[in-house]
Amino acid sequence: MAKQIRSGHIGILTSGGDTPGLNAAIRGIGKTATRGGGMQVIGFKDGFRGLMENRSVRLDNHMLSGILTMGGTILGTSRDKPHKMPMGGKNVDMTDVIVENYHKNHLDVLVCLGGGGTLKNAYRLSQAGCNIITLPKTIDNDIMGTDVTFGFDTALGIAVDAIDRLHSTASSHHRIIIVEIMGHKVGWLALGAGMAGGADAILIPEIPYTIDKLADSILERVSRGKRFSIVAVAEGAITVEGANKIKAVEKKLDGTEGEQRAKLKSQLSALDKEYRGSTMEMAEELQMITGLETRVTILGYLQRGGTPSALDRMLATRLGTSATPASARYESQLNCGIYSARSARDTVL
Ligand code: F6P
Repeated sequence: MAKQIRSGHIGILTSGGDTPGLNAAIRGIGKTATRGGGMQVIGFKDGFRGLMENRSVRLDNHMLSGILTMGGTILGTSRDKPHKMPMGGKNVDMTDVIVENYHKNHLDVLVCLGGGGTLKNAYRLSQAGCNIITLPKTIDNDIMGTDVTFGFDTALGIAVDAIDRLHSTASSHHRIIIVEIMGHKVGWLALGAGMAGGADAILIPEIPYTIDKLADSILERVSRGKRFSIVAVAEGAITVEGANKIKAVEKKLDGTEGEQRAKLKSQLSALDKEYRGSTMEMAEELQMITGLETRVTILGYLQRGGTPSALDRMLATRLGTSATPASARYESQLNCGIYSARSARDTVL
């Protein structure tokens, strides 16, 4: 059975891609825990790697002050996984060391702030006997069981602002401008930004495209006297051909274990590499078919940088502040291993 939660020690780590709002969440957890709960808060550096290497910092009032509006994460982050930690050129299972350090630091609970990958890793640690709370963050907005994740609103605002700016240059030069928007393998950001920014075509991974249809829709605009077009394309957008190939491999994956499964997985990542994120090639093809000058803007990491929006600050603060009382209130869920962020949100909404 998991330990009783008393006024004790809370650990915090941020893992995966950085996201606007992480510091607001750290502040929310920390201030509630230290001021209201009389707990000690320990931050681990650079995600699970910092916990494995026992690199930590006391998050006292001084450390937690003035960070609400800051982008990034004061703790640093990494994509390192406890069970596949890169060590001297190899991936090593360091779960035991991490669990040992969890106990060495007298943690009553570890709050992991992250996206889908982090949540899976946090779940593994809960299976290994640690009390875990997870808070969902990602600009991609792709975490199951959540309506929205913090970071999404900021990234959306940045992408919409970019599309607004691209409109004036596209229309002045009578060009097609393709704007590539992050989002991993989902289209929330591209769809949202494309809709709010008035893009003329939006390509998302959930609806595979063909270059001919895209070209037709642009030429149709030309026939209506529109001399420029903005295409919002998700980084994970895929052609019908690529999607079909991926589906066929995914089908084989069902129920396959061991070496064969590993082979299929590497086939899948090769297909992802071949068919997703081919915005430059798409631009060349589009220019050839339509005869219109075509340019590309890849927004990339701009979407993750800078100060969080008001909505993200609010959501992150609410999730953070609810995580601390929740650790006491939801002891039964903790005993089950993992505490869902949706329940955390429900405690404050
Ligand atoms: O998950 C957030 C995200 O920015 C995705 O949109 C993108 O595909 C990925 O991270 C980029 O990862 P990295 O920071 O490892 O390059």
